[in-house]
Amino acid sequence: MNNILHEDMAQRLKDAFPSPDEIPEDFRLSASNYTPCYLLDGKVRSWDGPLAAVYSPICLKQSNVIKRPIIGQVPAMNESTTLAALDAARRAWNNGRGDWPQMSFAARIEAVEAFVALMLKSREEIIKLLMWEIGKNLEESRAEFDRTVDYIGLTVEVLKNADRIGTSFRQRGDMVARVGSAPVGVCLLMGPFNNPLYETYTMLIPALLMGNTTIVKAPKFGVILHQLLFQPLADCFPPGVINFVYGADNGADNMSVLMRTGHIDVFSFIGSAGGAAALVQQHPRLFRLRSILSLEAKNSALIMADADMARAVRECVVGALGFNGQRCTALKILFVHESVADEFLKEFCGAVNALSIGMPWHKGVKLTPLPEFGKVRSMTAYVDDAVAKGGSVVNRNGGTACGTLFFPAIVYPVARTAELYRKEQFGPVVPVCPYGDYEEFLDFVVASDYGQQVSLFGRNPDKIAKLAGYLENQVCRINLNCKCQRGPDMLPFTGRKDSGMTTLSISDTLGSFSVPSVVAARSDSEGPAMIRQIATNR
Ligand code: G3H
Repeated sequence: MNNILHEDMAQRLKDAFPSPDEIPEDFRLSASNYTPCYLLDGKVRSWDGPLAAVYSPICLKQSNVIKRPIIGQVPAMNESTTLAALDAARRAWNNGRGDWPQMSFAARIEAVEAFVALMLKSREEIIKLLMWEIGKNLEESRAEFDRTVDYIGLTVEVLKNADRIGTSFRQRGDMVARVGSAPVGVCLLMGPFNNPLYETYTMLIPALLMGNTTIVKAPKFGVILHQLLFQPLADCFPPGVINFVYGADNGADNMSVLMRTGHIDVFSFIGSAGGAAALVQQHPRLFRLRSILSLEAKNSALIMADADMARAVRECVVGALGFNGQRCTALKILFVHESVADEFLKEFCGAVNALSIGMPWHKGVKLTPLPEFGKVRSMTAYVDDAVAKGGSVVNRNGGTACGTLFFPAIVYPVARTAELYRKEQFGPVVPVCPYGDYEEFLDFVVASDYGQQVSLFGRNPDKIAKLAGYLENQVCRINLNCKCQRGPDMLPFTGRKDSGMTTLSISDTLGSFSVPSVVAARSDSEGPAMIRQIATNR
């Protein structure tokens, strides 16, 4: 019976992929629109070297066979071009004497605002590319674009108003001081594929506003969409301030080459802990490298016996399976009190199975094709391992796959020895563990390699307060009766242990990309007048 169900589901998944002529007109891509290029030293340059094909996760059906189509090509860069980007960024920095690092905040803000005005013209095309390149649904693709623009606007507002980040004057005893913020230098920025626009630009814009110069490496997926913004970047910022490069087939190696020069001052990276470690270690003078890292996580939810079940189910569905579970903040393991485990699982399985799976443009679709090669295989391997260790897939059709579509598997109970108990699965598999005493949950949190966030579902304020008291020394955000997430963007976003280093938020990110600079003098000297002059010049 189960096999028959799976076969039906597999066929449904296969049928969800369109043939080329079934793609709605509004969402068709024209590959000829995208010419491989990169941004170096203020110019958008065409690339005549080797190319890397860009495969969409949206398989196309032809003669009953489904296949990932190639939707464009991007440069497969060599070391020398990557090093040329570093040279350009270093020239623009010019030991802090370049035009950009010397420019006033007001002038930098003007450049950023001019860029945003141009960026908005590409909104529809970028949204379409988010759908085709990473399989994000239409609603979430729109949200990613708009959130990026909002983030930039709010960053500018904070900068205009903030004492701590802009400039303040302080006096104590006979000392007068101007406290400002200075750029750090040349930044290497690498964002992840799950929010290729938002997480790239929420590093890039604050880095620029603080006066740094940059080399941006495009993420693993979500690469073509960046090309639409190269000309606006070239038009709005001085040469060398932003250089946008691609990896080679072995992209990490080109970035190692940059690190080994010792000329990268800031490494801002959102991705895997292993990837970050491999690159940071290449820098020959570690204390000269500032690392801003947002890494892996295994965020957990605790569903207590007295939880509002409907709310817990609703939040756990979006928390675990928003963008197919491909969020660093996703709920990646659920602990449910044994007295309500049956009730929770019944409701949770029902809600997951009601999610619609299909192409990113389908109205209301929540589950979409997965961009990473081998992802379906790795999801299946996690499930098989947990099942071999005593768990079962408890939702109908859970784990059924076809092409790049994988129907979420809810696995229960998950043993402590199963890979799903500890590792970050980053995809549509939800491990669930029963617990009797909350110490079992705390044991998990303490033993975890990660320390980003947790969600607590319950109604007893005393119990929640006690748990929160323990948990705040283990993770960086405790969500009460709601899912884990990064936003709203004014909140500090960070992680303990292997989940990160330094804090991101609209204001914290500005601090992360700058160093405090103090000009001080005695009040009974010419110093205060000079300080005022320095402030006026800036
Ligand atoms: O993948 C990590 C993202 O920063 C998470 O952001 O919680 O808003 O999805 P989000």
